[in-house]
Amino acid sequence: TRWPRRPLLTRSVSVFLIPGLFLNCGLFLAEAPVIRNKCNIKKACPSNTFAFKIVSGAANVIGPFMCFDNVTVMSNIKNNIGRGLNIALVNGSTGQVIKSNAFDMYSGDVKHLLDFLKPIKKGTLVLMAAYDDPATKLNDEARNLIAELGSSYASKLGFRDNWIFIGGKGIKDKSPFEQYLKNDKQTNKYDGWPEVLEMEGCVPKKLD
Ligand SMILES: *[C@@H]1O[C@H](CO)[C@@H](O)[C@H](O)[C@H]1NC(C)=O
Ligand SMILES: *[C@@H]1O[C@H](CO)[C@@H](O)[C@H](O)[C@H]1NC(C)=O
Repeated sequence: TRWPRRPLLTRSVSVFLIPGLFLNCGLFLAEAPVIRNKCNIKKACPSNTFAFKIVSGAANVIGPFMCFDNVTVMSNIKNNIGRGLNIALVNGSTGQVIKSNAFDMYSGDVKHLLDFLKPIKKGTLVLMAAYDDPATKLNDEARNLIAELGSSYASKLGFRDNWIFIGGKGIKDKSPFEQYLKNDKQTNKYDGWPEVLEMEGCVPKKLD
């Protein structure tokens, strides 16, 4: 669409020539409430979707952040994150958080992760974010379980790689909600770790 030239000029002139009008506009804007989208994301989500925002860990310093349907699910401030894989389960129909946990993949036991992943029910959305090292203790069984949730990078995840992901139990295709950055001395932003990853958007609600 093209802006008509003359009305635009007229408007800007009146703003400069009538200071009272300008002031009134300013006061009006200051008093108007700021409308924020759910999870503070840039674009509002359609009603048949859930808004989300996921931020990976930053090196081994700042933990990851997850917001889903305007609820902060995991964060430093909530003090429920940890080194390794941070995982939240959400009901794909209602958007309600089922549970979340962090699994130390550097020196923890992968058994805890397997016990968490195996019982996930069909129709559950699974949010994951790496912090520090998401992969040293991952075995084939754990990688396969994550791949079954729609991950394209589960088999590649390595020491101190960065990774954020939303998948679902029972989905047939690969998830479009996934970002991966390899730990590489040549391209790392921090000394031993790649850049922070951040993703926001709208996940379709499960219509059943
Ligand atoms: C999201 O939550 C905040 C409080 O955490 C609230 O102020 C805001 O109105 C909510 N936004 C929407 C769109 O529901
Ligand atoms: C989601 O919530 C609905 C309504 O409470 C329930 O019937 C359904 O079993 C839940 N699904 C999952 C995967 O938890």
